[in-house]
Amino acid sequence: SGHKKSPVSQNIVKSDSLVSVEDRQKLLGQTGATIWLTGLSGSGKSTVAQQLEKELTDQGQLCYILDGDNVRHGLNRDLGFSMEDRKENIRRIAEVAALMNEAGVIVITSFISPYISDRASAREVIGDESFIEVFVDTPLEVCEQRDPKGLYKKARAGEIQQFTGISDPYEAPQDAEITVSTEDLSPEAASKMIIGDLKGRGFIG
Ligand code: PPS
Repeated sequence: SGHKKSPVSQNIVKSDSLVSVEDRQKLLGQTGATIWLTGLSGSGKSTVAQQLEKELTDQGQLCYILDGDNVRHGLNRDLGFSMEDRKENIRRIAEVAALMNEAGVIVITSFISPYISDRASAREVIGDESFIEVFVDTPLEVCEQRDPKGLYKKARAGEIQQFTGISDPYEAPQDAEITVSTEDLSPEAASKMIIGDLKGRGFIG
């Protein structure tokens, strides 16, 4: 894995748990997994995430959204939007998602996560078999036209630096498990498509 182990963590020995992942899966009747949404600001990630969370919950699946509201204001409040900070943002999110998966929870992450290498590291931390990358493939022009928070306007005016899609890169996935276009799909339809795929892969019943 990519990140360096600190001298401290080298001296920590994992203690044997008396409860296994399988015990928790049996208890919950589900297997933990991470649905990793990636896409530009304004692409519709949050709407799709919320729709997914609602439908999965209605079907009796325990799931939880990790997004900017509960991560960038808390755990990652010390991070900005430089390449290094985005990398650290994604690294911590992946570690949290991996822990929650181990607890049996289906995690839905909603972050731009613009770099292929950072998403690949997240996949490694979470485990390829539990990681479903979903590309919310909304063209920049559409996101910019929507501009729900007025950030594209500010970025164009130079009031926000390093804004993804304008003055910072977005590396589109080449091997995402699922690609959805919110241009010609409603969030409901996109969510249905993702759930159909999860069922097809045996992640949910
Ligand atoms: S990243 O790249 O994955 O670390 O970004 P993320 O944690 O998803 O945060 C993106 C949201 O932060 C706001 N914002 C910015 N986005 C991109 N570039 C810059 N410079 C920036 N500054 C602030 C923006 O509202 C993003 O929200 P979403 O929900 O994606 O629209």
